[in-house]
Amino acid sequence: MFIGTNNPMLTQERQSIPKELKTDIRKGDCLEVLKDFPDNFFDLIVTSPPYADSRTNTYGGIKPEKYVEWFLPRSEKFLRVLKPTGTFILNIKERVVNSERHTYVIELILNLKRQGWIWSEEFVWHKKNCHPGKWPNRFRDAWERCLQFNKTKTFHMYQENVMVPMGDWAKTRLKQLGKNDIIRFNSQSGSGFGKNIANWIGREKAYPSNVLHLATETGNKNHSATFPKALPEWFIKLFTKKDDWVLDPFMGAGTTCEAAYQLHRNSVGIDIVSDYVKMAREKVPSVDYFIAEKRGVYGKNNKKGNNRVYRAEYTKVS
Ligand SMILES: C[S@@+](CC[C@H](N)C(=O)[O-])C[C@H]1O[C@@H](n2cnc3c(N)ncnc32)[C@H](O)[C@@H]1O
Repeated sequence: MFIGTNNPMLTQERQSIPKELKTDIRKGDCLEVLKDFPDNFFDLIVTSPPYADSRTNTYGGIKPEKYVEWFLPRSEKFLRVLKPTGTFILNIKERVVNSERHTYVIELILNLKRQGWIWSEEFVWHKKNCHPGKWPNRFRDAWERCLQFNKTKTFHMYQENVMVPMGDWAKTRLKQLGKNDIIRFNSQSGSGFGKNIANWIGREKAYPSNVLHLATETGNKNHSATFPKALPEWFIKLFTKKDDWVLDPFMGAGTTCEAAYQLHRNSVGIDIVSDYVKMAREKVPSVDYFIAEKRGVYGKNNKKGNNRVYRAEYTKVS
């Protein structure tokens, strides 16, 4: 028997998965909470940390000039709990201070490298629905960084999971192949990227670029800085497989945990603000809703300050 089969998130596919799925949402400073987790535990960390000094009314800002100093002890914990094959995605964008872009993100990247991280890639999140505006010395800010850091160069990456339709580009571009298109042609810019366009004839799907075109989803979640669920979703698909472990150490309203749950990944979310923790716990269904189970003992797992109700026994679905 399935519990909660009227839950809209429960697809046929999900219901037939026999393993239990854990979503562990904790309140606290991630610096402290992560002490409860073993080394090399998570497959992916995807997070959007508090902005430098710009959200003081909601959850306290960190001064731009103190940002790196504040961040590094926390990223040291991230480095410890991430598997050597894992990936850390940091969604961040430097703010404008005194009419110029502050350099704390650039300084952070350099310091993270010194801390032992490999800066593998930078994805751009293009905010498709960025609202219009007029500023005297700049245009509207329509993109944010999603920095990719790794512990090793041999991290797991499941590229097929994020392939995109070839689209109209293929129809026109592949019709007119030049001489450089039918051999592997190394970029003239010296970027190190090579291509053999003829390889893509007849294919339905291509690998995406490192620009993600996603609309923001604010205003409906009681949190002032949520990212769209599609953002963590994309990275979860790219860097993890089912039943892997995902961490969002600055979870906010729990978007990452929700995405992880829906993609059948285990997750841990941490936030320092009680209201956000409550919001996330209400939003992300627990394991109880979809795993077939024997009637078991219910209790509170208070060992590590975790208040979530758990069940002692689960029954496998045949
Ligand atoms: C930019 S928001 C994250 C929003 C999230 N991506 C979402 O979609 O809801 C950053 C979050 O970090 C939390 N935070 C700030 N300092 C923290 C800390 N030391 N440990 C854990 N969470 C913290 C804030 O309360 C805030 O909710």
